[in-house]
Amino acid sequence: KDSDKTVDSRLQVVCELLRKSIPYYDWVGFYFKNGDKQELKLGPYAGEPTDHTIIPFGKGICGQVAISNENFVVPDVAAQDNYIACSITVKSEIVIPLFLNGENIGQIDIDSNTPDPFTEADERFLEFVNQKVAEIL
Ligand code: SME
Repeated sequence: KDSDKTVDSRLQVVCELLRKSIPYYDWVGFYFKNGDKQELKLGPYAGEPTDHTIIPFGKGICGQVAISNENFVVPDVAAQDNYIACSITVKSEIVIPLFLNGENIGQIDIDSNTPDPFTEADERFLEFVNQKVAEIL
């Protein structure tokens, strides 16, 4: 039954569906702010395991979005000086903050092995996904 599913298992399905459905989404995951700590913690994800299960605010693309509350589209990760590499195959990244009652509580993070694949359509789509996710948290 749908209501028996935990939030994490639902978010896991979201990650796997996005990764499977969109050819240039190679790694899809959620990070959430970790209590009162000034850091993000990795939640459900689909793709290669990452060492970066904790990311301090301000560090990397994800850590910057935790502070800026703004979408961050990176067409070429090699051009970023504040970037945390998870895999050498990754060429580009998009991070969209997730708001609950107007508060930035985390983000969806997508890595791509394709250079410069993300458009405004991805931003609008992932904002929509995050809104829907916020409704089940
Ligand atoms: N590249 C991210 C780190 C998270 S991994 O992509 C899963 C960053 O710079 O914040």
